[in-house]
Amino acid sequence: MLQLKVLGGSDVSDPSKITYHSPTEVPASSTRLNVLTDGFGRFHSYLRISLIEQCNLRCSYCMPEDGLDWTPAQQLLTDQEVIRLAKVFVNEGVTKIRLTGGEPLLRKSIINIVEEIGSLTGLKTLSITTNGLLLKRNLPKLQMAGLNSINLSLDTLHEDRFYELTKRHALHKVLDAIDYALEIGYHPLKINCVVMRGVNEDELVDFAQLTLNRPVEVRFIEFMPFDGNRWNETQLVSYQEMLYTLRDAFPLEEIACGKHETAKLYRIPKALGQIGFITSMTDDFCAGCNRLRITADGHLKVCLFGRAEVNLRDAMRHGADDEDLLQLIGSAVDAKHAKHAGMHRIANSENRPMITIGG
Ligand code: GTP
Ligand code: 5AD
Ligand code: SF4
Repeated sequence: MLQLKVLGGSDVSDPSKITYHSPTEVPASSTRLNVLTDGFGRFHSYLRISLIEQCNLRCSYCMPEDGLDWTPAQQLLTDQEVIRLAKVFVNEGVTKIRLTGGEPLLRKSIINIVEEIGSLTGLKTLSITTNGLLLKRNLPKLQMAGLNSINLSLDTLHEDRFYELTKRHALHKVLDAIDYALEIGYHPLKINCVVMRGVNEDELVDFAQLTLNRPVEVRFIEFMPFDGNRWNETQLVSYQEMLYTLRDAFPLEEIACGKHETAKLYRIPKALGQIGFITSMTDDFCAGCNRLRITADGHLKVCLFGRAEVNLRDAMRHGADDEDLLQLIGSAVDAKHAKHAGMHRIANSENRPMITIGG
Protein backbone atom coordinates (compact mmCIF):
# COMPACT_ATOMS: atom_id res chain seq x y z
CA MET A 1 0.00 0.00 0.00
CA LEU A 2 1.34 3.41 -0.95
CA GLN A 3 2.18 5.80 1.86
CA LEU A 4 -0.37 8.61 1.40
CA LYS A 5 1.95 11.52 2.00
CA VAL A 6 4.18 14.15 0.44
CA LEU A 7 1.82 15.04 -2.35
CA GLY A 8 2.55 18.51 -3.65
CA GLY A 9 3.24 19.60 -0.12
CA SER A 10 -0.17 18.73 1.32
CA ASP A 11 -0.46 15.84 3.72
CA VAL A 12 -3.73 14.38 2.53
CA SER A 13 -3.57 11.44 4.93
CA ASP A 14 -4.44 14.09 7.51
CA PRO A 15 -7.23 16.26 6.06
CA SER A 16 -7.00 18.60 9.06
CA LYS A 17 -3.75 19.86 7.57
CA ILE A 18 -5.45 20.93 4.37
CA THR A 19 -6.52 24.57 4.33
CA TYR A 20 -10.27 24.84 3.85
CA HIS A 21 -12.43 27.92 4.29
CA SER A 22 -14.57 27.80 7.40
CA PRO A 23 -17.70 25.67 7.32
CA THR A 24 -21.03 27.31 7.94
CA GLU A 25 -23.00 24.15 8.67
CA VAL A 26 -22.38 21.23 10.94
CA PRO A 27 -21.89 17.99 8.95
CA ALA A 28 -24.58 15.36 9.37
CA SER A 29 -22.90 12.56 11.29
CA SER A 30 -21.89 9.42 9.39
CA THR A 31 -23.98 9.98 6.29
CA ARG A 32 -21.02 8.81 4.22
CA LEU A 33 -22.11 6.27 1.64
CA ASN A 34 -19.01 6.05 -0.50
CA VAL A 35 -15.85 7.85 -1.49
CA LEU A 36 -17.70 10.52 -3.44
CA THR A 37 -20.17 11.43 -0.68
CA ASP A 38 -19.10 14.28 1.56
CA GLY A 39 -19.82 14.98 5.21
CA PHE A 40 -23.07 16.75 4.28
CA GLY A 41 -24.43 13.78 2.35
CA ARG A 42 -23.73 15.32 -1.07
CA PHE A 43 -22.86 12.68 -3.63
CA HIS A 44 -20.53 13.97 -6.33
CA SER A 45 -21.56 12.60 -9.69
CA TYR A 46 -20.14 15.38 -11.88
CA LEU A 47 -16.43 15.71 -12.63
CA ARG A 48 -14.85 18.62 -14.49
CA ILE A 49 -11.48 17.84 -16.03
CA SER A 50 -9.26 20.64 -17.32
CA LEU A 51 -7.25 19.46 -20.31
CA ILE A 52 -5.01 22.46 -20.83
CA GLU A 53 -4.10 25.77 -19.20
CA GLN A 54 -3.61 27.81 -22.37
CA CYS A 55 -6.35 29.63 -24.23
CA ASN A 56 -6.56 31.30 -27.63
CA LEU A 57 -8.45 34.26 -26.12
CA ARG A 58 -7.41 36.73 -23.41
CA CYS A 59 -10.55 37.46 -21.40
CA SER A 60 -9.64 39.64 -18.42
CA TYR A 61 -12.10 37.95 -16.03
CA CYS A 62 -10.31 34.65 -16.51
CA MET A 63 -6.71 35.43 -17.34
CA PRO A 64 -4.40 37.45 -15.01
CA GLU A 65 -3.44 40.84 -16.43
CA ASP A 66 0.27 40.16 -16.12
CA GLY A 67 0.02 36.80 -17.86
CA LEU A 68 0.94 33.55 -16.25
CA ASP A 69 3.86 31.18 -15.86
CA TRP A 70 2.49 28.16 -17.64
CA THR A 71 3.02 24.82 -15.94
CA PRO A 72 5.81 22.88 -17.68
CA ALA A 73 4.47 20.17 -19.99
CA GLN A 74 5.88 17.29 -17.95
CA GLN A 75 3.82 18.45 -14.96
CA LEU A 76 0.57 18.26 -16.89
CA LEU A 77 -1.50 15.08 -16.96
CA THR A 78 -0.83 12.83 -19.91
CA ASP A 79 -3.72 11.40 -21.93
CA GLN A 80 -3.32 8.08 -20.13
CA GLU A 81 -3.45 9.78 -16.73
CA VAL A 82 -6.55 11.78 -17.68
CA ILE A 83 -8.29 8.64 -18.91
CA ARG A 84 -7.24 6.63 -15.87
CA LEU A 85 -8.66 9.24 -13.49
CA ALA A 86 -11.87 9.48 -15.49
CA LYS A 87 -12.24 5.71 -15.21
CA VAL A 88 -11.60 5.71 -11.45
CA PHE A 89 -14.28 8.38 -10.92
CA VAL A 90 -16.82 6.76 -13.24
CA ASN A 91 -16.34 3.44 -11.45
CA GLU A 92 -17.23 5.24 -8.22
CA GLY A 93 -20.46 6.63 -9.68
CA VAL A 94 -19.61 9.76 -11.65
CA THR A 95 -22.14 9.99 -14.50
CA LYS A 96 -21.21 13.33 -16.03
CA ILE A 97 -17.80 14.60 -17.13
CA ARG A 98 -17.12 18.06 -18.50
CA LEU A 99 -13.88 18.83 -20.32
CA THR A 100 -12.61 22.34 -19.69
CA GLY A 101 -9.44 24.39 -19.96
CA GLY A 102 -8.05 26.96 -20.76
CA GLU A 103 -9.52 26.13 -24.12
CA PRO A 104 -9.95 22.33 -24.23
CA LEU A 105 -10.02 22.20 -28.04
CA LEU A 106 -6.39 23.35 -28.08
CA ARG A 107 -5.39 19.95 -26.72
CA LYS A 108 -4.10 18.05 -29.74
CA SER A 109 -5.39 14.69 -28.54
CA ILE A 110 -8.88 15.98 -27.75
CA ILE A 111 -10.68 13.57 -30.09
CA ASN A 112 -8.90 10.56 -28.64
CA ILE A 113 -9.63 11.70 -25.08
CA VAL A 114 -13.32 12.19 -25.91
CA GLU A 115 -13.44 8.76 -27.54
CA GLU A 116 -11.83 7.01 -24.57
CA ILE A 117 -13.83 8.79 -21.89
CA GLY A 118 -17.02 8.59 -23.95
CA SER A 119 -16.77 4.81 -24.01
CA LEU A 120 -16.68 4.40 -20.22
CA THR A 121 -19.57 2.29 -19.03
CA GLY A 122 -21.72 4.23 -16.60
CA LEU A 123 -20.96 7.67 -18.00
CA LYS A 124 -24.18 9.34 -19.22
CA THR A 125 -23.01 12.81 -20.24
CA LEU A 126 -19.75 13.91 -21.77
CA SER A 127 -19.68 17.65 -22.26
CA ILE A 128 -17.26 20.42 -23.04
CA THR A 129 -17.04 24.10 -22.15
CA THR A 130 -15.37 25.95 -25.02
CA ASN A 131 -14.93 29.46 -26.38
CA GLY A 132 -16.07 28.13 -29.75
CA LEU A 133 -13.20 29.33 -31.94
CA LEU A 134 -12.13 25.83 -32.94
CA LEU A 135 -15.51 24.21 -32.47
CA LYS A 136 -16.98 24.14 -35.94
CA ARG A 137 -14.05 22.36 -37.53
CA ASN A 138 -13.77 19.82 -34.69
CA LEU A 139 -17.44 19.18 -34.16
CA PRO A 140 -18.11 16.32 -36.60
CA LYS A 141 -15.26 14.30 -35.08
CA LEU A 142 -16.22 15.24 -31.53
CA GLN A 143 -19.78 14.15 -32.15
CA MET A 144 -18.65 10.83 -33.63
CA ALA A 145 -16.32 10.34 -30.66
CA GLY A 146 -19.21 10.65 -28.19
CA LEU A 147 -19.45 14.28 -27.11
CA ASN A 148 -23.08 14.79 -26.21
CA SER A 149 -23.37 18.30 -24.90
CA ILE A 150 -21.75 21.71 -25.37
CA ASN A 151 -21.49 24.88 -23.30
CA LEU A 152 -20.05 27.83 -25.10
CA SER A 153 -18.68 31.10 -23.69
CA LEU A 154 -19.78 34.32 -25.35
CA ASP A 155 -19.87 37.69 -23.61
CA THR A 156 -20.77 40.12 -26.37
CA LEU A 157 -22.58 40.20 -29.70
CA HIS A 158 -20.59 43.18 -30.98
CA GLU A 159 -17.49 42.53 -33.09
CA ASP A 160 -15.48 45.52 -31.76
CA ARG A 161 -16.33 44.69 -28.17
CA PHE A 162 -15.44 41.06 -28.76
CA TYR A 163 -12.00 42.25 -29.78
CA GLU A 164 -11.68 44.53 -26.73
CA LEU A 165 -12.61 41.68 -24.41
CA THR A 166 -10.66 38.86 -25.99
CA LYS A 167 -7.99 40.49 -28.17
CA ARG A 168 -9.15 38.45 -31.18
CA HIS A 169 -11.39 39.27 -34.12
CA ALA A 170 -13.35 36.06 -33.98
CA LEU A 171 -16.98 36.73 -33.13
CA HIS A 172 -18.08 35.37 -36.52
CA LYS A 173 -16.38 32.04 -35.76
CA VAL A 174 -18.25 31.67 -32.48
CA LEU A 175 -21.60 32.58 -34.08
CA ASP A 176 -20.95 30.10 -36.90
CA ALA A 177 -20.13 27.42 -34.37
CA ILE A 178 -23.40 28.07 -32.53
CA ASP A 179 -25.43 27.73 -35.75
CA TYR A 180 -23.59 24.59 -36.75
CA ALA A 181 -23.88 22.92 -33.34
CA LEU A 182 -27.63 23.58 -33.35
CA GLU A 183 -27.90 22.28 -36.91
CA ILE A 184 -26.28 18.96 -36.04
CA GLY A 185 -28.39 18.41 -32.96
CA TYR A 186 -26.74 19.90 -29.88
CA HIS A 187 -29.96 20.95 -28.09
CA PRO A 188 -30.04 22.77 -25.84
CA LEU A 189 -26.80 24.52 -26.45
CA LYS A 190 -25.78 26.52 -23.40
CA ILE A 191 -24.27 29.97 -23.96
CA ASN A 192 -22.35 31.38 -20.97
CA CYS A 193 -22.24 35.15 -20.71
CA VAL A 194 -20.27 36.68 -17.81
CA VAL A 195 -21.98 39.99 -17.12
CA MET A 196 -19.78 42.89 -16.00
CA ARG A 197 -20.81 46.46 -15.30
CA GLY A 198 -19.40 48.94 -17.76
CA VAL A 199 -18.52 46.10 -20.11
CA ASN A 200 -21.57 44.25 -21.42
CA GLU A 201 -24.52 44.77 -19.08
CA ASP A 202 -26.22 46.73 -21.87
CA GLU A 203 -26.49 43.49 -23.90
CA LEU A 204 -28.77 41.51 -21.59
CA VAL A 205 -31.84 42.04 -23.74
CA ASP A 206 -30.02 41.22 -26.99
CA PHE A 207 -28.67 37.98 -25.52
CA ALA A 208 -32.11 37.08 -24.16
CA GLN A 209 -33.54 37.58 -27.65
CA LEU A 210 -31.33 34.78 -28.95
CA THR A 211 -33.62 32.39 -27.08
CA LEU A 212 -36.74 33.44 -29.00
CA ASN A 213 -36.04 31.38 -32.14
CA ARG A 214 -33.26 29.04 -31.09
CA PRO A 215 -33.15 26.10 -28.65
CA VAL A 216 -30.34 27.72 -26.66
CA GLU A 217 -30.01 28.34 -22.95
CA VAL A 218 -28.42 31.75 -22.49
CA ARG A 219 -26.87 31.85 -19.03
CA PHE A 220 -26.00 35.16 -17.43
CA ILE A 221 -23.17 34.62 -14.96
CA GLU A 222 -22.30 36.85 -12.02
CA PHE A 223 -18.69 38.02 -12.22
CA MET A 224 -16.62 35.96 -9.76
CA PRO A 225 -13.23 36.74 -8.15
CA PHE A 226 -10.19 34.64 -9.02
CA ASP A 227 -6.50 35.33 -8.60
CA GLY A 228 -5.33 38.12 -10.87
CA ASN A 229 -8.72 38.95 -12.44
CA ARG A 230 -9.14 42.36 -10.80
CA TRP A 231 -12.59 41.48 -9.46
CA ASN A 232 -14.38 44.40 -7.97
CA GLU A 233 -17.82 44.36 -6.40
CA THR A 234 -18.84 47.46 -8.32
CA GLN A 235 -18.45 45.47 -11.56
CA LEU A 236 -20.67 42.68 -10.30
CA VAL A 237 -24.16 42.84 -11.82
CA SER A 238 -26.30 40.86 -9.43
CA TYR A 239 -28.93 38.26 -10.32
CA GLN A 240 -31.67 40.54 -8.97
CA GLU A 241 -30.47 43.46 -11.06
CA MET A 242 -30.27 41.34 -14.22
CA LEU A 243 -33.73 39.93 -13.54
CA TYR A 244 -35.11 43.42 -13.05
CA THR A 245 -33.68 44.58 -16.40
CA LEU A 246 -34.99 41.56 -18.26
CA ARG A 247 -38.43 41.64 -16.63
CA ASP A 248 -38.70 45.19 -17.89
CA ALA A 249 -38.30 43.87 -21.45
CA PHE A 250 -40.07 40.48 -21.30
CA PRO A 251 -42.73 38.74 -19.20
CA LEU A 252 -40.41 35.99 -17.88
CA GLU A 253 -41.81 32.66 -16.67
CA GLU A 254 -39.88 30.71 -14.04
CA ILE A 255 -38.92 27.13 -14.87
CA ALA A 256 -38.40 24.52 -12.16
CA CYS A 257 -34.80 23.32 -12.12
CA GLY A 258 -32.98 20.27 -10.85
CA LYS A 259 -31.31 20.22 -7.47
CA HIS A 260 -27.76 20.16 -8.91
CA GLU A 261 -28.34 22.88 -11.47
CA THR A 262 -25.91 25.85 -11.44
CA ALA A 263 -28.50 28.06 -13.16
CA LYS A 264 -31.86 29.44 -12.08
CA LEU A 265 -34.06 29.13 -15.15
CA TYR A 266 -36.66 31.32 -16.88
CA ARG A 267 -38.36 31.48 -20.27
CA ILE A 268 -39.82 34.22 -22.40
CA PRO A 269 -43.33 32.91 -23.18
CA LYS A 270 -43.35 30.92 -26.47
CA ALA A 271 -39.55 31.18 -26.84
CA LEU A 272 -37.74 28.09 -28.10
CA GLY A 273 -34.89 28.51 -25.67
CA GLN A 274 -34.49 29.52 -22.05
CA ILE A 275 -32.61 31.97 -19.88
CA GLY A 276 -30.48 31.05 -16.89
CA PHE A 277 -28.73 32.96 -14.13
CA ILE A 278 -25.63 31.62 -12.43
CA THR A 279 -25.72 33.36 -9.10
CA SER A 280 -22.58 32.13 -7.31
CA MET A 281 -21.98 35.49 -5.65
CA THR A 282 -25.39 36.65 -4.43
CA ASP A 283 -27.30 33.37 -4.02
CA ASP A 284 -24.98 30.37 -3.90
CA PHE A 285 -26.15 26.91 -4.92
CA CYS A 286 -23.65 25.00 -2.78
CA ALA A 287 -26.33 22.97 -0.98
CA GLY A 288 -26.90 21.00 -4.18
CA CYS A 289 -23.25 20.84 -5.20
CA ASN A 290 -22.30 17.60 -6.94
CA ARG A 291 -19.09 18.84 -8.62
CA LEU A 292 -15.43 17.96 -8.34
CA ARG A 293 -12.59 19.29 -10.46
CA ILE A 294 -9.28 18.05 -11.73
CA THR A 295 -6.85 20.69 -12.93
CA ALA A 296 -4.65 20.21 -15.99
CA ASP A 297 -1.71 19.58 -13.64
CA GLY A 298 -3.60 16.80 -11.91
CA HIS A 299 -4.84 18.37 -8.68
CA LEU A 300 -8.25 17.51 -7.32
CA LYS A 301 -10.22 20.53 -6.14
CA VAL A 302 -13.38 19.77 -4.21
CA CYS A 303 -14.64 23.36 -4.43
CA LEU A 304 -14.22 25.99 -7.12
CA PHE A 305 -13.41 28.60 -4.49
CA GLY A 306 -11.47 26.42 -2.06
CA ARG A 307 -7.72 26.49 -1.86
CA ALA A 308 -7.45 22.88 -0.85
CA GLU A 309 -5.99 20.59 -3.47
CA VAL A 310 -4.89 17.00 -3.60
CA ASN A 311 -2.13 16.10 -6.01
CA LEU A 312 -3.37 13.00 -7.82
CA ARG A 313 -0.71 13.37 -10.51
CA ASP A 314 2.19 12.76 -8.15
CA ALA A 315 0.31 9.97 -6.42
CA MET A 316 -0.09 8.20 -9.77
CA ARG A 317 3.53 8.86 -10.71
CA HIS A 318 4.68 7.42 -7.36
CA GLY A 319 2.86 4.20 -8.06
CA ALA A 320 -0.55 4.67 -6.41
CA ASP A 321 -3.01 1.94 -7.34
CA ASP A 322 -6.70 2.73 -7.76
CA GLU A 323 -7.43 1.95 -4.09
CA ASP A 324 -4.75 4.45 -3.05
CA LEU A 325 -6.25 7.07 -5.32
CA LEU A 326 -9.69 6.43 -3.87
CA GLN A 327 -8.33 6.98 -0.35
CA LEU A 328 -6.89 10.32 -1.37
CA ILE A 329 -10.07 11.32 -3.17
CA GLY A 330 -12.22 10.17 -0.25
CA SER A 331 -10.25 12.24 2.30
CA ALA A 332 -10.56 15.36 0.18
CA VAL A 333 -14.27 14.89 -0.51
CA ASP A 334 -14.93 14.15 3.14
CA ALA A 335 -13.35 17.45 4.15
CA LYS A 336 -15.38 19.53 1.67
CA HIS A 337 -17.09 22.47 3.29
CA ALA A 338 -20.79 23.20 3.21
CA LYS A 339 -20.49 26.25 1.03
CA HIS A 340 -18.09 28.86 -0.21
CA ALA A 341 -16.90 31.60 2.10
CA GLY A 342 -18.79 34.53 0.54
CA MET A 343 -17.61 36.87 -2.18
CA HIS A 344 -15.62 39.26 0.01
CA ARG A 345 -13.64 36.53 1.70
CA ILE A 346 -13.13 34.76 -1.61
CA ALA A 347 -11.86 37.98 -3.17
CA ASN A 348 -9.31 38.32 -0.38
CA SER A 349 -8.10 34.76 -0.25
CA GLU A 350 -5.68 32.85 -2.41
CA ASN A 351 -6.87 30.49 -5.15
CA ARG A 352 -5.68 29.80 -8.65
CA PRO A 353 -6.41 32.04 -11.62
CA MET A 354 -9.62 30.84 -13.32
CA ILE A 355 -7.73 29.83 -16.46
CA THR A 356 -5.88 27.13 -14.49
CA ILE A 357 -9.01 25.86 -12.70
CA GLY A 358 -11.34 25.39 -15.63
CA GLY A 359 -14.53 27.00 -14.32
P1 GTP B 1 -24.02 22.38 -16.87
O1 GTP B 1 -23.41 21.10 -16.53
O2 GTP B 1 -24.47 22.41 -18.27
O3 GTP B 1 -25.03 22.86 -15.92
O4 GTP B 1 -22.81 23.42 -16.84
P2 GTP B 1 -22.04 24.07 -15.65
O5 GTP B 1 -22.74 25.31 -15.26
O6 GTP B 1 -21.78 23.08 -14.59
O7 GTP B 1 -20.63 24.39 -16.34
P3 GTP B 1 -20.01 25.58 -17.21
O8 GTP B 1 -18.64 25.14 -17.53
O9 GTP B 1 -20.89 25.93 -18.33
O10 GTP B 1 -19.92 26.79 -16.21
C1 GTP B 1 -20.82 27.86 -16.21
C2 GTP B 1 -20.52 28.78 -15.04
O11 GTP B 1 -20.85 28.12 -13.85
C3 GTP B 1 -19.05 29.18 -14.93
O12 GTP B 1 -18.96 30.52 -14.55
C4 GTP B 1 -18.55 28.29 -13.86
O13 GTP B 1 -17.46 28.84 -13.17
C5 GTP B 1 -19.76 28.19 -12.97
N1 GTP B 1 -19.72 26.94 -12.21
C6 GTP B 1 -19.60 25.69 -12.70
N2 GTP B 1 -19.53 24.81 -11.71
C7 GTP B 1 -19.60 25.55 -10.57
C8 GTP B 1 -19.56 25.22 -9.20
O14 GTP B 1 -19.40 24.09 -8.82
N3 GTP B 1 -19.67 26.23 -8.32
C9 GTP B 1 -19.83 27.50 -8.69
N4 GTP B 1 -19.95 28.41 -7.74
N5 GTP B 1 -19.85 27.87 -9.97
C10 GTP B 1 -19.74 26.89 -10.88
N1 5AD C 1 -16.65 34.85 -13.31
C1 5AD C 1 -17.68 34.14 -13.82
N2 5AD C 1 -17.56 33.21 -14.79
C2 5AD C 1 -16.35 33.03 -15.29
N3 5AD C 1 -15.91 32.22 -16.27
C3 5AD C 1 -14.58 32.38 -16.41
N4 5AD C 1 -14.14 33.30 -15.52
C4 5AD C 1 -15.22 33.72 -14.83
C5 5AD C 1 -15.41 34.68 -13.79
N5 5AD C 1 -14.42 35.39 -13.29
C6 5AD C 1 -16.77 31.33 -17.05
C7 5AD C 1 -16.48 31.36 -18.54
C8 5AD C 1 -16.77 29.95 -18.99
C9 5AD C 1 -16.94 29.18 -17.72
C10 5AD C 1 -16.18 27.92 -17.65
O1 5AD C 1 -16.52 30.00 -16.68
O2 5AD C 1 -17.33 32.25 -19.19
O3 5AD C 1 -17.95 29.87 -19.74
FE1 SF4 D 1 -19.76 23.55 -4.93
FE2 SF4 D 1 -17.87 25.17 -4.06
FE3 SF4 D 1 -19.32 25.77 -6.25
FE4 SF4 D 1 -20.38 25.88 -3.80
S1 SF4 D 1 -18.75 27.17 -4.60
S2 SF4 D 1 -21.33 25.01 -5.63
S3 SF4 D 1 -19.40 24.14 -2.80
S4 SF4 D 1 -17.91 24.06 -6.00
